[in-house]
Amino acid sequence: MDRIIINGGNRLKGVINVSGAKNAVLPILGASLLCPGINVIYDVPSLKDVEVMSSLLEYLGASVSRNGKIITVDTSNVEARDVSEELMRRMRASNLVLGPLLGRFGKVRISQPGGCNIGSRPMDLHLKGIRALGASIKEQWGYITAEAGRLVGSEIHLDVPSVGATENIIMAAVLAKGETIIYNAAREPEIVDLQTFLNKAGACIKGAGTSVIRIKGVGSLHPCKHRVIPDRIEAGTHMVAAAITNGDITIQNVITEHIEPMVAKLREAGIDVEMENNTVHVRATGKRYAIDIRTMPYPGFPTDMQPQMTALLSVTPGTSLITENIFENRFKHVPELHRMGADIKVESRTAVVCGVKKLSGATVRATDLRAGAALVLAGLAAEGTTVIECPEHIDRGYENLEEKYRQLGADIYRERV
Ligand code: UD1
Repeated sequence: MDRIIINGGNRLKGVINVSGAKNAVLPILGASLLCPGINVIYDVPSLKDVEVMSSLLEYLGASVSRNGKIITVDTSNVEARDVSEELMRRMRASNLVLGPLLGRFGKVRISQPGGCNIGSRPMDLHLKGIRALGASIKEQWGYITAEAGRLVGSEIHLDVPSVGATENIIMAAVLAKGETIIYNAAREPEIVDLQTFLNKAGACIKGAGTSVIRIKGVGSLHPCKHRVIPDRIEAGTHMVAAAITNGDITIQNVITEHIEPMVAKLREAGIDVEMENNTVHVRATGKRYAIDIRTMPYPGFPTDMQPQMTALLSVTPGTSLITENIFENRFKHVPELHRMGADIKVESRTAVVCGVKKLSGATVRATDLRAGAALVLAGLAAEGTTVIECPEHIDRGYENLEEKYRQLGADIYRERV
């Protein structure tokens, strides 16, 4: 059981580099199943979730090797094996092999993913989409089985713009006969990156980044090379690190358009943010204002930044309201922040955050990835020592976080027990 130890109170200053986006690389690794041969992916962060996806691909017959930030995936010998509960439990995003396996082999059997720490996270929209493409679906004994001859293009209207459903439907549809149109598609930048990867591999997809995506089915795809976009949530987390420690951080390798929803909120909260080319400079001004936040699908404020902003607003004078519209159980960081002295009340989907002067160090537990990030940020700002248990959740989505923050002047280290 490792623990992260933070002696808080240091102002973070300096330059930090953002790694490749976790939520872009996971579907792209899934999509490589559609491209028989040797695919090369650049700027792949070294994360637990990437390791899990790589071992899932290996289990399906791919050979995966890593050299620094480059992953090579040879998908020549892949076969459609059942994806067990054990593999699904390790990472929910394992469901991203559903679309590619169905598209390439006409058959897939995966364990039901079930709920997770932040909510129930059903798969109904993924299944509705692939059913519309002609797959027959059976849900029995805890497994989802989907079968089809060749899928046939169709018009699909998503009830909510689910990121995973949009990605799975795109991946199923690229080899389908005819055209598929997804209406009310998710517009996240990671979906644009998936489109870019697949089009390089010979697919014909248009519209990612808007709410209507058109996919013209092609006969086959070939392997390709691709560089993953930078992680906008990691960038956002560093922006909050600058703000909460009264620091001054230059964040490099950012697509500034992707972080605009976060920049707007930080500016409203009194933080100085300047953007130029692929860099963002975040500086605390000494003043901070309470703000209201509602999480929304992109380009709204991302749910994956809600816990980090909760930490910041917990030490911002005044009362802030945070409404979580995407996941029903995403305030698990709140009881942990209480242990550090925060004054936050949660009523259904809204957290009422009354800013306190200071947080104080305590032993807290990371319950999920972004809750863990929020606790790191709170610990950086708190008086005294914070001990974060279960840091493996943080490792799912942040590469070398302690080292990156140490280089900015934080007193943070990992105790390996
Ligand atoms: C992805 C991200 C995750 C992020 C989330 C929302 C990856 C690997 N993960 O997760 O970091 O927090 O987007 O931005 O990219 N829903 C249904 N039925 C479905 C599918 C989803 O009701 O079939 C609901 C979910 O319960 C949730 C909402 O839709 O309330 C959004 O979920 P979704 O966009 O699918 O999230 P993920 O793709 O799982």
